[in-house]
Amino acid sequence: MKNVLPKVLGVNNCVELKNGKEARVILLNNAATTPPFEVTLETVNKFLQTYGALHRGAGPNASVTFQKVQAAVNTLHKFLGMPEDHAMLFTSNASAAINLFIRLLRLKKNDVIITSIIEHTSNNLPWKYNTEARTVYINAFDDGSLDYEDLEKKVAENATHLKLIAITGASNLTGYIPDIERISKLAHSYNALLFIDAAQLAPHRPIDMGKQGIDALAFSAHKVYAPFGLGVLALSKDILKTDPVDPGGGSIDMISETDIVWAPPIARHQTGTWNVTGIIAAAASCKIIMETGWDTIVAHEKELVRYMAQELQTVPNIILYVPPEKYLTEDRIGTFAFNLKGYHHALLSAILENEYGIETRAGTICNHRLVRRWFHVDDVAQKEIEKKIAGGDRLASYGIVRASLAIHNTKEDIDALVSALKFIAVNGHKLKYKPVPVEEIYVCEE
Ligand SMILES: Cc1ncc(COP(=O)(O)O)c(C=O)c1O
Repeated sequence: MKNVLPKVLGVNNCVELKNGKEARVILLNNAATTPPFEVTLETVNKFLQTYGALHRGAGPNASVTFQKVQAAVNTLHKFLGMPEDHAMLFTSNASAAINLFIRLLRLKKNDVIITSIIEHTSNNLPWKYNTEARTVYINAFDDGSLDYEDLEKKVAENATHLKLIAITGASNLTGYIPDIERISKLAHSYNALLFIDAAQLAPHRPIDMGKQGIDALAFSAHKVYAPFGLGVLALSKDILKTDPVDPGGGSIDMISETDIVWAPPIARHQTGTWNVTGIIAAAASCKIIMETGWDTIVAHEKELVRYMAQELQTVPNIILYVPPEKYLTEDRIGTFAFNLKGYHHALLSAILENEYGIETRAGTICNHRLVRRWFHVDDVAQKEIEKKIAGGDRLASYGIVRASLAIHNTKEDIDALVSALKFIAVNGHKLKYKPVPVEEIYVCEE
């Protein structure tokens, strides 16, 4: 264990703001994406010196590439605590991994998938549109925590047809972390699989698929300090014994007019040329996280979460959609939804960008159901909003501003956000902004 936090690229970058001032860029949109660790970039640079064809040629570079990719895949297995009977497929992001997973399961019309209303769209729409199975939603409370009573009730009601429970590992909106082991026991007692959307969990908490009873999961490397276009799907090898759902280059060993001999299970589903640079980068970052030690990372991030929850409360006119005590008394990742009274969420985000150099995200952030509930939007109002959005006015939507923390953040970053919000709350903004409805943003008028 190093006990020292790894260095992240670009955390000291400065920019000239639209008001002419120079400011350090404050990275508070880490739930969307993270820059690479410095060592990850060095590892990628080194890897590319001898870059060669994987599974598609022979030669000194092909051989080195094969060995390095194999070692990288082993590192990723370790990072996830993957049981021996599990394997890994690579996609372009977590969304693609979830879509691939549901198609691989080939569920039937009467099968049931239980998921929740707190899911990211990527852990919701695939279950609705990429399978014939029926989706049942379990409820959550306003603070984003799951209603376990409702879960148990719906599981029992659907006992005979239940095939899968699909739940987020950590929320991209509220920072809430479900009790994975509890849900796993419940799923397995009904012979159903547990799928975890680990996009927000993987960067912030250790995962042990074996111990936690996770049958399959997805995450994306661009949220674990390796933004090189890689998504990961970890799942039981048994599921891969079927025909591939995306057949193509690499999926077959032999083809004739009448017969096909599929490649071995993993290769047959890993269609086309692999994103080996993405795999090397992801493994480098995951190795750095493991070497740093989860205790060190979690302690650092928890301290920041506590500080942020305390400091945000001191901002006049702030709306905190999740009560700050939740972050102080529960184990939540550093994802905060807020706004200032009287501000459109996209406008506040634009002010933070243009006048303070702070990165945030605004909108319903792919978590529409809970945000809608926070805004008490009834069906009639919702229809009106949908009509406007369909007409191109995407700013007609309700929404929040999100600030999300990661390993490289400091209390100074939080101070910068809090002092900016205090200034705006009291003095307003100093530059002029115009709406760009079709992009769902405000931009600074030059
Ligand atoms: C909880 C959660 N699931 C899934 C995704 C989708 O990830 P990707 O952008 O890698 O497809 C995100 C992205 O923000 C997320 O936060």
